[in-house]
Amino acid sequence: MANVTVIGAQWGDEGKGKIVDWLASRADVVVRFQGGHNAGHTLVVDGTTYKLSLLPSGIVRGTLSVIGNGIVLDPWHFRDEVAKLAGQGVNISPDNLHVAETAPLILPFHRDLDGLREDASGAGKIGTTRRGIGPAYEDKVGRRSIRVCDLAHLDDLEPQLDRICAHHDALRAGFGHPPIDRAAIVAELRAIAEFLLPYAKPVWVGLNEARKQGKRILFEGAQGVLLDIDHGTYPFVTSSNTIAGTASGGSGLGPSAVGFVLGIVKAYTTRVGSGPFPTELEDETGQRLGERGHEFGTVTGRKRRCGWFDAVLVRQSAAVSGITGIALTKLDVLDGFDTLKICTGYKLDGKIYDYLPPHASDQARVEPIYEEMPGWSESTAGARSWADLPAQAIKYIRRVEELIQCPVALVSTSPEREDTILVRDPFED
Ligand code: GDP
Ligand code: IMO
Ligand code: MG
Repeated sequence: MANVTVIGAQWGDEGKGKIVDWLASRADVVVRFQGGHNAGHTLVVDGTTYKLSLLPSGIVRGTLSVIGNGIVLDPWHFRDEVAKLAGQGVNISPDNLHVAETAPLILPFHRDLDGLREDASGAGKIGTTRRGIGPAYEDKVGRRSIRVCDLAHLDDLEPQLDRICAHHDALRAGFGHPPIDRAAIVAELRAIAEFLLPYAKPVWVGLNEARKQGKRILFEGAQGVLLDIDHGTYPFVTSSNTIAGTASGGSGLGPSAVGFVLGIVKAYTTRVGSGPFPTELEDETGQRLGERGHEFGTVTGRKRRCGWFDAVLVRQSAAVSGITGIALTKLDVLDGFDTLKICTGYKLDGKIYDYLPPHASDQARVEPIYEEMPGWSESTAGARSWADLPAQAIKYIRRVEELIQCPVALVSTSPEREDTILVRDPFED
C-alpha cells in the first residue's frame, strides 16, 4: 500500500500536524484536500514550533506539497503563511508548493458573512473560526465561486461578480451591511494574482503522474470526523467532508489512492467551539487535562474544552471513515492520574446507545457510561519505544484498541517530531 491518508478522528486538534510531519520523511508528496485556514497544525522540530493553517505540513521538510481542489483558499492568508514560514527558514517556492487551479477562493465578504452570522446567533452560535470557511463552501456548491484560475482572467470576471455579489448583497442587506465594493475586490484580486498564480497548477495531472511512478502520497486531513458535514455533530460542524474519502475527490485522484487510513486520536477528548460533548469535564480534572495538554486553539487562541476519552465516538469515526489504524497522541498528558475513565456507551431516556444519536438535543442530553482504569505514575513523556511505556499505559492503549475496534499504528508522547513510537508502518502495510 503506497499511500497514507491522515484524518482527525475526534473534533480536530488531535495532533495531525505532528504525525504528518513525522510521516512526511517517508512520503514523496503531501496533499491537503479539504478545509482551509480554519485548521491549525503544529509541528515541533528540535525545539522550533511551526504552525500551519493552509499549507501542507510536509512543506517544513521541503517535501513536495499540494493544496488540492477540495480546499477553500484565502489568497491573502496564503501569501502571509508563505511569508511567515519563509521567515522561519522554510524553503517555499512554486517548485515545491502547488495549488489547484480549480480551488475556490475565500474572499473578504465570506469572512464578513461568517462573522455577521456568528454575532447574530447569540447562544446558538457555532463558534466558527470566523475565517469565511462556511460561506466560501456555500458559494462553491451554489456555483458562484471565484476560483484560483479566475485570477488569470480578471478581465472576464463581471458575470461571476454579478452572480456572487447579487447573492451576498442580499444577505448583507439583511444584516444592515453595505453592498460589496466590487471595484475594491477586483483591485485586491489583481494585486494578489501576481503572487498566487505562479503556484497554480493542474495538480491532478502531477498527482496522477506521481501515482503512476509509484511515488508515496501522504494526504493531510484537517478538522476531524466529528466535525464532518455529514457524519459530525451537525449543525456544530465545519462545512466540508473531513472523512478519508474526501482525499480522492479533493485532489483529483481515484478512490483507490486513499490507501492506509490513519486516524489521529487524542488519548482524551477536546473540542473548541460550541456543540455537544458527552464526556466534557467542567471540573478540576478537565482543567488539569487542559493545562497538561496546553489545550488552547492554534488558530483562535480559544481555550479547548476537555474530557475523558470517548470510545463510542472514536469507534463511530473509525467506522464511517474506514480507519485502518490509529495514531494515539498526547498519551503523556495522562501521566500521573490515579484513575482514568473511558466512555463505553450512553444512556438516554432509559435506553442504552452504542453510538451517538443524530439529533443535537439528544446529543446534548446523553449520559456517558464509564469504565475506570488505574492510571500510571511514571512519565511517558518523550518515550520512543514500546518498552519505555509503563505496563498500565500499555493496558490503556490495548483497551482503547479493543473498544474502538482498530489497531494502534503509532503512539505520540510529546510535541517533538521524534518522540513517536512506531508500532506498524502505515506506508508498509
Ligand atoms: P492538529 O490540528 O491535529 O494538527 O493538532 P494541533 O496542532 O492543533 O494541536 C495539537 C497540540 O498538541 C499541538 O500543540 C502539538 O504540538 C501537541 N502535541 C502533538 N502530539 C503531542 C503529544 O504526543 N504530546 C503532547 N504533550 N503534545 C502533543
Ligand atoms: P484542525 O485541522 C478544531 C471548528 C470550529 C467550529 C467549527 C466550525 O486544526 O484540527 P469553521 O470555521 O470550520 O466553520 O468552524 O469547527 N473547527 C476546528 N476545531 N480543529 C480544527 O482544525 C478546526 N477547524 C474548525 O471551532 O466549532
Ligand atoms: Mg489544530
